[in-house]
Amino acid sequence: MQGDKKILYSAVQPTNNLTIGNYIGAVKNFVALQEEYDCIYAIANMHAITVRQDAAQLRKNTLSLLALYLACGIDPQKCVLYLQSHVPAHAELAWTLNTFTYVGEMERMTQFKDKSAKHADNINMGLMDYPVLMAADILLYQTDVVPVGVDQRQHLEITRDIAVRFNNAYSPTFTVPEGIYMKVGAKINDLLDPSKKMSKSAENANGAVFMSDDRDTIIRKFRRAVTDSMAEIKYDPSNKPGVSNLLSIYSVFGGMDIADCERQFEGCGYGDFKLAVGELVADKLAPIQAEQAKLLADKQYLNDVLKSGAERAAHRAAKTLAKVYKKIGFYQL
Ligand code: TRP
Repeated sequence: MQGDKKILYSAVQPTNNLTIGNYIGAVKNFVALQEEYDCIYAIANMHAITVRQDAAQLRKNTLSLLALYLACGIDPQKCVLYLQSHVPAHAELAWTLNTFTYVGEMERMTQFKDKSAKHADNINMGLMDYPVLMAADILLYQTDVVPVGVDQRQHLEITRDIAVRFNNAYSPTFTVPEGIYMKVGAKINDLLDPSKKMSKSAENANGAVFMSDDRDTIIRKFRRAVTDSMAEIKYDPSNKPGVSNLLSIYSVFGGMDIADCERQFEGCGYGDFKLAVGELVADKLAPIQAEQAKLLADKQYLNDVLKSGAERAAHRAAKTLAKVYKKIGFYQL
């Protein structure tokens, strides 16, 4: 707790381009959460390098994600917004927590297994250690809650295990964080393969709508979205995954219930429905894209935000790290 607010932590990796799925599942929620919680939001560039990145592109993606966070309404006055590599305590605590984590546990992580298969030529230690760095992120700030999608659930579980293990070995040091699992729009699926989550690294870029896509591209992608042969706009994820996914997207972007969306499109053909979804998404993204572009042109402002965020984050992180170092017996001056 910080004052009367619970501490909430989350981070997004500055890799590729965010999809509307990342926006809905993460960034859009972050904005709402800032009112209720003491929020700490990071750009996880240290996690990003667990798969090979082009240096110039990584730098560019970092500022682009920062500008997007800001354009979406994340307010650096209300929360702590910073770049992970600007706070050395993340690497320091991760190293310490490594000694409280078992190799076998890491080998069993689903994401590690998936990524190892996908990047078979680069199964580096960082890829395996990824969950420990994530645990360090969360535990450094005495986080109470972490909003997570299903894909990060296992990482949050291991974070809790590591925290409890450390607390039991010494004395209460870390707050054991709880996950908050978002219901609505927590999962937006691929437009071409609606059985899969919409992903930044989708095999076919037409299945994912990116935050940076222009209006024509957005509309074209929705036009091609896979539906079914039932000609009925009903929410039924198991039998009608494509249509249900489009309804979810329309519902979150339009800020209305699924039932209202179904009613609105009663008797409407799939072609018109897909066009309506595409137009709504394009309409909603346009002002965000314009604001992001404006912010990206003001590098001084972005640097100031990062600097102030890093200072505030480092100050809070240092307190936890000092406690940990003391307990484990690192001689202090
Ligand atoms: N691993 C997360 C992802 O790829 C990003 C992340 C890094 C994170 N550190 C975190 C999320 C701490 C929540 C809390 O989505």
